[in-house]
Amino acid sequence: LRIAVLFGGRSAEHEVSILSATNVMGALNPERYDAVPIFITREGQWLLSSFEDGALATPSSGTEVCLVPGGRGRMLAMSAYGAPHELRGIDILFPVLHGPHGEDGSVQGVAEVARVPLAGCGILGSAAALDKDIAKRLLRAAGLPVARAVTIHQGAVPPLAALDAELGLPLFIKPARQGSSVGVAKVHASQEFAAALEQAFRHDRTLLAEEFIAGREIEFSVLEATDGKLFVSRPGEIVPAESHGFYNYDAKYIDENGAALKVPADLPPEVEADMRDMAAKAFRAVGCDGMARVDFFLTSDMRFVINELNTIPGFTDISMYSKAMAASGISYAEIIDRLVDHGMA
Ligand code: DAL
Ligand code: MG
Repeated sequence: LRIAVLFGGRSAEHEVSILSATNVMGALNPERYDAVPIFITREGQWLLSSFEDGALATPSSGTEVCLVPGGRGRMLAMSAYGAPHELRGIDILFPVLHGPHGEDGSVQGVAEVARVPLAGCGILGSAAALDKDIAKRLLRAAGLPVARAVTIHQGAVPPLAALDAELGLPLFIKPARQGSSVGVAKVHASQEFAAALEQAFRHDRTLLAEEFIAGREIEFSVLEATDGKLFVSRPGEIVPAESHGFYNYDAKYIDENGAALKVPADLPPEVEADMRDMAAKAFRAVGCDGMARVDFFLTSDMRFVINELNTIPGFTDISMYSKAMAASGISYAEIIDRLVDHGMA
């Protein structure tokens, strides 16, 4: 099978995607797959990449590629010299992109238009899950527990006192559509509010102010089988270092000791069972298919809320999706096989 692995991309999680895709490339079974890595530059150009000695090339110029609309995987290449020429077509597209322009339904739409199978979640679930405001509404409508939040639109920002009255302090300010905690800030007092808004509005015109829930971060990997049955992994726990305040971008990717993963998380069996059931319900409520990681907060009195769903969860060395799957007996290579089978079905 010829599988195109898309990585890089226009979002703030460009670097994270390179780390994820490097691991995905390394896990592809060479007997089953002929992989074509395609690097998306920060500007959005699709360039042919290569994978050598465990590293993906991230060229700044080179051979541009595109999928032909309706072409069922036909792919054209254009180098700076010479006429466009046809490459061997692909059988399936695997976007390993995080955040806007990749995890949000846009690239999933490219697969649809090109009539090429897609590994992972489709257009609607991707778009809904990436937008924390929309996802929260869907989860709430399905009767699932979420943290209280106020949606903030640019040009109509409520005073902090009003947010405090509704959500209490500290609270989180988050861009609606962003990942890896990019643009997220914890606001304890009024002097932090303006900077938090300014930073978050750099990433989106819609923000969420969300109540702070003091609790453990518990995550589940969900994978859909070709017959539509959902596999939900054992729970994983993120234990962020005290110094970072919350599990932010630096704690995730910059500071080696920023956080520890505990897989499986130590939970009472009935709590784990409830949360797994809830993870599957959340996956359905948000319209996901294929794959997602469902993230929760669990308080000390064992109440929990769903924090968010990630339809292209990180596959970096420190990411939870594959680790929680491994704790449930599913290897990295098996995850990819199942995603591909699901996409081709
Ligand atoms: N957005 C990052 C990649 C994650 O959810 O793992
Ligand atoms: Mg996320």
